Amino acid sequence: MTGRLWGIGVGPGDPELLTVKAHRLIEQAGTVAWFAARGRPSNARAAAARHIRPRQPELPLYYPVTTELPAGAEYEELLAGFYDEAAERIATVLDGGEDVAVLCEGDPFFYGSYMYLHNRLAGRYESEVVPGVTSLLAGAAVLGVPLVCRNETLSVLSGVLSRDELERHLVDVEAAVVMKLGRNLAKVRASVAAAGLLDRAWYVELATLPAQRVLPLAEADSSGAPYFSMVIIPSAEASTR
Ligand SMILES: C[S@@+](CC[C@H](N)C(=O)[O-])C[C@H]1O[C@@H](n2cnc3c(N)ncnc32)[C@H](O)[C@@H]1O
Repeated sequence: MTGRLWGIGVGPGDPELLTVKAHRLIEQAGTVAWFAARGRPSNARAAAARHIRPRQPELPLYYPVTTELPAGAEYEELLAGFYDEAAERIATVLDGGEDVAVLCEGDPFFYGSYMYLHNRLAGRYESEVVPGVTSLLAGAAVLGVPLVCRNETLSVLSGVLSRDELERHLVDVEAAVVMKLGRNLAKVRASVAAAGLLDRAWYVELATLPAQRVLPLAEADSSGAPYFSMVIIPSAEASTR
């Protein structure tokens, strides 16, 4: 009997936003795996820490890079090799008959690294994905402004895109969220301004965590932002109806 693979969404940071099912499977797992940048704590593990049993075996998976870069052959190859190796380390545990819970910030299938393990392992092992409260929705909740209504379209963009690509997408949006802000903040703000949306745009940092900050994007310090930050542009209609 091989073990089961569980991709567990742990929510945006507030430990109370982890689902009952996530809590049950984390406690039940033979091994708990999580991603982190080397030398930094794992955000997913921090959100789930209170559910990890004392002495429960853990499997840290340290990224080979500390910031996400625009797509390029060398970068893609480096990451593919890392995910291949991480998948095989998990496969070894599953082959030993133990269930593995992989912790994921927010939701596993929404820009989550778990998906790369899932693509490599779900065909070989019984697997289940436990959805989590995604940061996008946590961000809108802490902003306290409705995001999108009726027949409107919500656009989700990555801040890693070039300034031109961002602006091209933003000119037509009804409501938008720009993820992966961090060192892309100044570029994203310039694109939002060029698309004529700066007066509707909000900067949300560390949503649901004690150090959470929410301010108009125009007032955000453009020298940089933490990894856990995003821009939210709520629909003009949803916020006034
Ligand atoms: C690789 S994506 C992972 C998204 C995650 N799977 C989810 O469902 O939210 C990481 C990005 O999510 C956003 N993010 C995650 N947690 C956040 C939080 N608590 N506050 C603000 N942004 C957050 C940031 O834009 C960050 O760069």
